Amino acid sequence: MSESRSRERAAKQIRRLREEIVYHETQYYRDNNPQISDKEFDQLAKELEALEAQYPDLLTPDSPTQRVGEQLQEGFPSVEHHTPMLSLDNCYNTDELRNFEERIRKIIPEAELGYVVELKIDGLGIAIIYREGTLAQAVTRGDGIRGDDVTSNVRTIKSLPLSIDQAGEVEVRGEIFLPFTSFRSLNQEREESGETVFANPRNAAAGSIRMLDPKVVASRRLDAFLYTLFLDGAEMASQWESLQKLHDLGFKTNPRSQLCTSLEEVIDLYQNLINERDHLEYDVDGIVIKVNPTEQQRRLGHTSKFPRWAISLKFPARQATTRINDISIQVGRTGALTPVAALDPVKLSGITISRSTLHNEDEIRRKDIRIGDTVLIERSGDVIPRVVSVMKDRRSGQERAFEFPTSCPVCRTRTFRPENEAVARCVNPSCPAVVRESLLHFASRRAMNIEGLGEALVDQLLESGLVHKIPDLYHLSLEGLEQLERMGRKSSQNLLEEIDKSRHNDLSRLIFALGIRYVGERTAQILAGHFESMDSLAQASLEELMELDDVGPKVGESMVFFFQQPENRALIESLRAAGLNLISALEKDIGERPLEGKTFVLTGSLKDMSREQAKTRIESLGGKVTSSLSSRTDYLVVGEAPGSKLPAAQRLGTIQLSEEEFLELISG
Ligand code: IVH
Repeated sequence: MSESRSRERAAKQIRRLREEIVYHETQYYRDNNPQISDKEFDQLAKELEALEAQYPDLLTPDSPTQRVGEQLQEGFPSVEHHTPMLSLDNCYNTDELRNFEERIRKIIPEAELGYVVELKIDGLGIAIIYREGTLAQAVTRGDGIRGDDVTSNVRTIKSLPLSIDQAGEVEVRGEIFLPFTSFRSLNQEREESGETVFANPRNAAAGSIRMLDPKVVASRRLDAFLYTLFLDGAEMASQWESLQKLHDLGFKTNPRSQLCTSLEEVIDLYQNLINERDHLEYDVDGIVIKVNPTEQQRRLGHTSKFPRWAISLKFPARQATTRINDISIQVGRTGALTPVAALDPVKLSGITISRSTLHNEDEIRRKDIRIGDTVLIERSGDVIPRVVSVMKDRRSGQERAFEFPTSCPVCRTRTFRPENEAVARCVNPSCPAVVRESLLHFASRRAMNIEGLGEALVDQLLESGLVHKIPDLYHLSLEGLEQLERMGRKSSQNLLEEIDKSRHNDLSRLIFALGIRYVGERTAQILAGHFESMDSLAQASLEELMELDDVGPKVGESMVFFFQQPENRALIESLRAAGLNLISALEKDIGERPLEGKTFVLTGSLKDMSREQAKTRIESLGGKVTSSLSSRTDYLVVGEAPGSKLPAAQRLGTIQLSEEEFLELISG
C-alpha cells in the first residue's frame, strides 16, 4: 500500500476512534450509563494513541487523548492545580509490566531499581492543601489541570485530619472512596426509597463528593487513603518515605503498601493481592507500581499524561456484557419482591455469573431493562453483580418489557407497596419464602455464622417440619437431624456444635441476625456497643436511639416498631430461654484486650495451632491479623518454613516472634 493510502486510512480510523471515544465518555461521565466495559474503553484509547504516535501530524489538541480526566462539573468553583494531577498508564498482564521496566532501563540503565507497590483504590483522586497546619482547600482531579473546589465536602471525611503538625504549605494527594459496608447500606436505603442505586462504590463516592449539602455528604461515610506528599521546600527522598511521613502526619495510608526490590517480588505480591481482593473493605482495581527513589523519578520524568516512573497493573476485569434471558421475582426475608435477571452465564474474575438483581420495579423502568436486552454487568466487592446499563444500541426489536406482579409469587397474597416506597412487599408473615429467607439470614456468615446451615438444609428443615421459626434451631436433636437426607451422624453433630457455638456470639451479631429493617452490620455493632444488652436496646426510646451518631429517624423508628411487635418480643424471650447470649461482649471483656491496636502477620506453619486458630486467638485479644507485611505491622510470627515475608520483615525492622514467643505473648 502506498504511503499516502495508509496515511489516509489512519486518518479515517483516527476520526472514527475519536468519535467513538467521545461518545463513550459522555455516556460514562455525564450520563452514568456506560455502554462498554472500562477495559474495552481503555483499548479504544490505546488504539487511538498508537495511531497518533505513528502519525504525529494527525494529532490535534482536541483529541480525547489530550485530556487527562473527566470534564468539570457545574456548581463548584474550579481551581487550578499547583502541579498537574497526572493519570497512570495501565497494563493488564505481567509481560506488559516487564516492558515497563525495560523502558525504565533504557533511560536509567545503571540504576538499582526498587519499587513501592500500592493498591489502586477505585475511588476518586483528590488534592488537599494545608496551610500552616490547617486544611485549606480540597480539589478534585477534574481534567488534571483544573478541578472542582470541594473543600467543605472533603472536611466531612472523618479520617482526614483538619489540622496537621507541619508549618508552611503542604499538599497531599490520594483517593476518596466509599467502604463496601457504607456502599451497601446507602444502596439499600436508596433501593427502599426508590432512588437509583449506584452501580459501584466509585460512582457512589463520586456522586457524594459533588453534593451541594455537606451535611448529606457527612452521612455518606466517605474515607480516604493518601499516597502523595508535597512538602514546602523539603522533598522526600522516596515514595516509601512519603508514605511514612504521611502516616506520621496523621493521614490514613494504605496498610498493604510494600517495598519490593525486584519485579519478581512485585509479581508475587500482585498474585497475593488478587486473592486478597475479595476480603478488603473497599474496592480496588489493581496495583500501582512506583519507582521508589525520588531522584530516579525525576530522571524518568513524565509524558503529557503519565509519569514514566509509575504504572498500574489491573486486576482481572469485573465487568462483562451478557444477555438477559428472563426476569423472575424473589421474595426476601422482609417480604420484599425483588426482580432477578437470569443471564447468559459469563465469567467475571473467576466466578461464573448467571443471575443479577434488578433491585425493584422503578429501577427496571428507569433503566428500561427488557427481557432479551444486552447489558453491562459489574461485580464489585459483593458477590452479587449489578446491571450497570442497557446497551440499547444492540437491541433487535425482539426484547420484551417485564410485567411486575401484584401478588406474591410464593403464597399468592396480594402485595402492598406504600406510596412513598419503591418496594412492593408480601405482607404475610408466615409466607414460606419470608420464613426461609429469615432463617438463612440468621445463620449467615455475617450474622450468627452457623456454618453448614445453607439453603439445601434450611429447605429440608422446613419441609420436614423440624423447624418453623428461628428458635426451633436451638432445639434440634441428633436423632431428628439424622433422618434428613445427606445428614450422617458426623455432619449432624457438626451442625449441632455450630448451633451451640452461636449461643455465645456477641450481641451485635444477634441484633443484625434479627433482620430488623435498615439495621445493617455496622449499625448493629454500634447499637450493641452502646446499649450493651438486648433488654436495654428493646426498651430504648426513639430519642435515646437517635442520640447515636449513626441512627437517624428511619433506623430509629424501625427499631422501635420492631420491639413493639408482640411476636418479636416473644422471639427474644424464646432465644433467651434457648440460652443465647443477650449481652454485649464489650461489657464482658473490658480489660481483656491486651493486643488492642497491634497488627500481626503470620508466616510459615505453626506446630501447635492452625493459622485460623492463631488468628481467632489474636482477634479475641483485640489484635488484628493482616496477610501482608508493611511498616505498620507490629509482629511477624515465624513458623516452620517461613516465606518471603521473613526477609521483608528484616528490611522493615518488624519484631519477629518464634512460635514459643508467640504462645507466651498470647497466654501472658
Ligand atoms: S499515583 C503521578 N497511586 O488512579 C501519580 N494513583 O488511573 C498518579 N489511584 O488519578 C497517581 N490508587 O486517582 C496513584 N495508589 C495509587 C492510586 C492511584 C488509585 C488513582 C488516582 C489516579 C488514577 C489513575
